[in-house]
Amino acid sequence: MNTKSLVSIDDISRDEILELIEKAKYFEANPNLKVLDGKVVATLFFEPSTRTRLSFETAVNRLGGRVIGFSDASTSSSAKGETLKDTIKMVSNYADLIVMRHHLEGAARYATEVTEVPIINAGDGSNQHPSQTMLDLYSISKTQGKLNDLTITMVGDLKYGRTVHSLLMAMRYFNPTFNFVACEELQMPAEYKKFCDTHGIKYTEHKDFSPEVINSSDILYMTRVQRERFTDIMEYEKVKNLYTLRNAMLADAKPNLKVLHPLPRINEIDQDVDDNPKAYYFDQARNGLFARQAIICRALGIDPVNN
Ligand code: CP
Repeated sequence: MNTKSLVSIDDISRDEILELIEKAKYFEANPNLKVLDGKVVATLFFEPSTRTRLSFETAVNRLGGRVIGFSDASTSSSAKGETLKDTIKMVSNYADLIVMRHHLEGAARYATEVTEVPIINAGDGSNQHPSQTMLDLYSISKTQGKLNDLTITMVGDLKYGRTVHSLLMAMRYFNPTFNFVACEELQMPAEYKKFCDTHGIKYTEHKDFSPEVINSSDILYMTRVQRERFTDIMEYEKVKNLYTLRNAMLADAKPNLKVLHPLPRINEIDQDVDDNPKAYYFDQARNGLFARQAIICRALGIDPVNN
């Protein structure tokens, strides 16, 4: 495995997280540095994406590199039955870095085992989405002026939501307090609650998205109930609209509160929230460009500051 791969947020230390945030800040001020001249980055998306793929590709383009890949696996030879192993080995012949999204948990980790080219996990099933976590941390740091001692409320699909799983793990360095708001069917999995217990992270679980929970929060992290993760569509129909944030619900929120969402949203944030200064999800997605520029440079061993 190439040690510069980023498969799980657990692959990087607190210092590396802080360094990536500093680099993201640097790229926000200098988004067009041509530090990837001659580099080819492959984006292999076996699952749909708007933000992750396009921000990775924009990041490469702005840094002067070239992009190859596919946004729809049905146009690749995996539709003819080619294995993931063979696909990764083939693409490794062409690219300096592989960014991949796959519906199977562990697919990115497996890819690291069949190639020496660094792999960036752009989401594997319900497991991890570490580049999303880096842009989330950058967004939290920018809006709160710190990462430490914050109350973060995660709402919605905490069972299948890879973004909340990754964020929870990364926050272990920063003494968070979590509120988990979810229905019985979509609660935070036991392994992540155990992770909190092991690392002394405070959390409480709620079924009600109550004013008390909202008004105690520094960050409201809304998530979509992901239809694609359900095997029983009736189960999805039952839970899909249980939690919706509306503008009026933010009336007594803390002045520093920001509403985050990895997007796409369906019904979980009403459009009347969009003009509230506390709504930060579109800026959050923009921050993804800079966070991913930092992640790409780390993977390729490029220091943009001293290049
Ligand atoms: N946040 C996120 O992963 O969005 P996409 O699915 O559009 O990439």
